[in-house]
Amino acid sequence: MTALLHSLQFVRTARDMREVSQEIRRSGRRLGFVPTMGALHEGHLALVAQARADCDAVVASVYVNPLQFGPREDFGAYPRDLERDARLLSGAGTAILFAPEEGEIHVAGHRTAIEVTGMQDVLCGRSRPGHFRGVCTVVAKLFQIVAPHAAYFGEKDAQQLRIIRRMNRDLHFDVTIVGCPTVRAEDGLALSSRNAYLTPDERRAAPVIFRALEAAAKRARAGERSVALLVEGVRAAIALEPLARIDYIEAVDDETLGAVEVLDRPVLLAAAVYFGRARLIDNIVIRNPR
Ligand code: PAJ
Repeated sequence: MTALLHSLQFVRTARDMREVSQEIRRSGRRLGFVPTMGALHEGHLALVAQARADCDAVVASVYVNPLQFGPREDFGAYPRDLERDARLLSGAGTAILFAPEEGEIHVAGHRTAIEVTGMQDVLCGRSRPGHFRGVCTVVAKLFQIVAPHAAYFGEKDAQQLRIIRRMNRDLHFDVTIVGCPTVRAEDGLALSSRNAYLTPDERRAAPVIFRALEAAAKRARAGERSVALLVEGVRAAIALEPLARIDYIEAVDDETLGAVEVLDRPVLLAAAVYFGRARLIDNIVIRNPR
């Protein structure tokens, strides 16, 4: 049986992308946008599926953005396979793949950066200084070039989603930001391009992150209201796994990412944990506890 492949238009320059997207907008069609760094998996494809459900045409971008990697992070090692990504996007019904060449996004001599102050210095921002400045700067440029009606982001990167919502509002981008649920493997591990770095032993151990977060949510449902105790519970459960090295376990106000002591509003409980060289993140939102 031959799979039905939608034809995928391949765009490599900012100028071409702008033209293609303007034509779609002029024809009255709703344009959905899924920004990625490639090495695609079912989590990315779920964003494409949501965009297809809401929009008439979907643009996905594949661009490993150097600005969001620290000097000692995995920019060089980040998995890249554009052919495979194109196949998966085509199979998922993406109309356009924007895979910009070097220099198309961050033009030679560029000096402009976007920061969402206050929200970028907690959680992942604390251990990855400059990361969210890099993310906001690239997403702002992609929004300018692609000019979508709606853009799709995963809840897996919870801080990123909240910061981008704020940037979109503050800078009047007028893009509808859609958050999509985290896609997980059967054992609960959140799908991530970085799972490719895990050894088989590390892969077997990694679901401890989500189990610990779920246990905390369950304690909250059973009446625990101390955020510090919930965080400690997650830390203790993950610390029992010898292959895990905790970067942070933190709970913050779900909207502002500000400090919170008692579960009297929606709280984002988030973790970053190293398994070998893979730094994995996950989170759970605790709403309406009782
Ligand atoms: P990347 O890590 O490739 O992720 C692209 C999008 O896929 C993000 O919105 C991310 O939250 C979402 N995603 C990743 N894993 C997911 C999962 N298991 N379930 C649901 N969604 C998932 O995030 C980035 O790239 C970059 O920072 C980017 C926004 C493209 C800017 O460079």
